Amino acid sequence: MGKKIKISAELEELAWEELENEDQELILEAKSISKDAYAPYSNFQVGAAAKLNSGRILRSSNQENVSFPVGVCAERLLLGYAGANYPEDPVKKLAIVAKRKGEKDWASVSPCGLCRQTISETEMRFNQAITLLILRPEGQVLKIPGIQALLPFKFEDLNG
Ligand code: THU
Repeated sequence: MGKKIKISAELEELAWEELENEDQELILEAKSISKDAYAPYSNFQVGAAAKLNSGRILRSSNQENVSFPVGVCAERLLLGYAGANYPEDPVKKLAIVAKRKGEKDWASVSPCGLCRQTISETEMRFNQAITLLILRPEGQVLKIPGIQALLPFKFEDLNG
């Protein structure tokens, strides 16, 4: 029998009142931008907001395409924009929320594999973990100290 290697992660779930003010603010920014998502095919409207080390806040929503794979997730679009426009300003926090169009309640969301790899690259680029804030449908927020918990054993070293 081969040696077993265990990979595990602990996620912290906080009530809204337990969040720092700046985390609440970032989630509210993500909520507000999600309303402008271009998601006519899935009707799943995602909002993402990033806080950079400088304090600057950037926002994006998902942008879909009739050729489905061409569509881009909110987080990936946002991190690309941040890297292109603020190459000297590391991303400190990233809030993600989602809602199905026409529904009142917030939906369950979690970054896809491509976005996880992109978050990982942004962490590597700036040598700084990104705190993830993910809104849960019941109103609590998952606060995750970096992508490692969501993407263990990831590809990160061409010479490893
Ligand atoms: N989507 C995001 O923008 N972020 C996520 O974390 C999950 C999924 C988008 C992609 C697509 O436009 C729609 O949500 C449905 O998958």
